[in-house]
Amino acid sequence: MSGLRSDRWFAGDDEVAVLHRVALPARGSGGGPVIGIADTTSDLNPCNAPLAGLMVAAARGIRAAGGIPVRFPVMSLGEDLMKPTAMLYRNLAAMQIEEQVRSNPIDGLVVTGGCDKTVAAGLLGAASADVPALLLLSGRARWGTDLWRALEERRAGRLDDDAWHELEACLTCAGPGTCTTMGTASTLALLTEVLGLCLPGSTGLAGAGPAAAQLAERTGARVVAMVEAGTRPADVVTQAALDNALRALAAVGGSTNAVIHLAALAGRLGLDGSLAHADALWRDVPLLADVEPCGRYLAAALPEAGGVPTLLAALAGLAGLAGRTAGPGVDLTALAGDGLPWRQHVALAPAPSTDGVLRTAAHPVAPAPTMVALTGSLAPDGCVLKVAAASPDLLQHTGPALVLDDYEDMRARLDDPDLAVDDDVVLVVRGIGPVGAPGMPEWGMAPIPAPLVRRGVRDVVRVSDGRMSGTSFGTVALHVAPEAQVGGPLAHVRDGDPIRLDVPARRLDLLVDPAELARRAETWQPATAADLRGWPLLYRQHVGQAPTGADLDVLAAPRPEQRVRVEPTVGRS
Ligand code: FES
Repeated sequence: MSGLRSDRWFAGDDEVAVLHRVALPARGSGGGPVIGIADTTSDLNPCNAPLAGLMVAAARGIRAAGGIPVRFPVMSLGEDLMKPTAMLYRNLAAMQIEEQVRSNPIDGLVVTGGCDKTVAAGLLGAASADVPALLLLSGRARWGTDLWRALEERRAGRLDDDAWHELEACLTCAGPGTCTTMGTASTLALLTEVLGLCLPGSTGLAGAGPAAAQLAERTGARVVAMVEAGTRPADVVTQAALDNALRALAAVGGSTNAVIHLAALAGRLGLDGSLAHADALWRDVPLLADVEPCGRYLAAALPEAGGVPTLLAALAGLAGLAGRTAGPGVDLTALAGDGLPWRQHVALAPAPSTDGVLRTAAHPVAPAPTMVALTGSLAPDGCVLKVAAASPDLLQHTGPALVLDDYEDMRARLDDPDLAVDDDVVLVVRGIGPVGAPGMPEWGMAPIPAPLVRRGVRDVVRVSDGRMSGTSFGTVALHVAPEAQVGGPLAHVRDGDPIRLDVPARRLDLLVDPAELARRAETWQPATAADLRGWPLLYRQHVGQAPTGADLDVLAAPRPEQRVRVEPTVGRS
């Protein structure tokens, strides 16, 4: 294979090239392209454990296709253990991938990922590294449970200690692999497949099964072929592919976190991932997948129902519905990870059904929209609400604010059995945006106040500059921008202020006289965090707001020449 990026290290006969060939003899003696395997496994991240075996299979595939596999470590981002949130490190892990490629003789990439932010970091790192790349996903665990619903039942006193401990035992026995509901990990795995950045058929596979190993082997071989063809992520992730992913996200009732990650990916590739653009795409997309948390089945049911090709077939069916005006439901000229247009996969896929896991556009699980972007005086730069997980009777609601300033404040007040609170309260959780926490933890789905739980209330409107877990539910306006910490209107809300949510009008408003808000702003001071150092300090100084993906300003790269294509100077260290 000629014209490889790694030739810059190995070609020639000076002492530098000699040293490079000695350091990597498999390549130095005339071998093929060097394929980096970005390793995100860690004992601290059980969700990615299946990748240990899958990387061996991928390396086998790379070798069989004439490439040279080289494994390098990337910080593993496990949701289960990292505090305050793995999101704080998404951009750091993405940067590690980019910098490993920049500084090393790597021609192509297999990027491993499984738990939420490892996939998000992999997508961003691959896009910015700008070499041929596919993601290799760890696959799902054996089963899962709906922890958040169980938690509400426990707070309501309907789940005793024995049942609570039984739940823990069930979770422990689920085995390695990712969560099995359509939480953030499953959502991102599905979207990665739609984007063409992993092989078709990846979604919903068990990480420990033989099918996953076979797919891993083919992933390695496919990246070698992509190096030969010069196919980079930017060639695959076009605006059409991104739009397909945004529509697919709405169709499966996927995680709101994916909105942020797709916006960041768009920012890295110069595409339109704005909330206004997303909302226009979501307007007529109903819930087409009957999967948890918005439906009945686990993500494990998706492969048997036809997986991504059948989902795309269902989305394509939107175009044929009477009265529809929003253009094609999906663009099937976009490429799958094997290089074929999705049209060819869809032609061979099982048809969506009228009552199964993947539904036809005419027989959806729930009507459109499943996801909306809102703006208004409380969220001038936008926020996101997952309609499919909300209470229909709260989608137009006005109520008095109860303001919670951080996690400790939230837990202390909401668990107080004597808290004075109205049934129509709007909970405001602020100070947990990208800059605020920092890192934007998943505290946006504040628990229902204890007195309301006792009165039988199961949902209230919640408004936050933070995120919520992909498995969470409720009427929750998230990612409010600008966030409170940078002086957004959220910072000036006081207890009792009326807040109006109007989903049909796509509005979220603070019904307080602007002159009064201006007075409050004059005396407002951001919370200080004097003890920050190292990465959190750098992050806080450079991170942007949620609607642009909470990416670092130094990592967004709207023009191709801003990606990593800068070749290193060949020299001795
Ligand atoms: Fe890792 Fe859900 S906690 S995938």
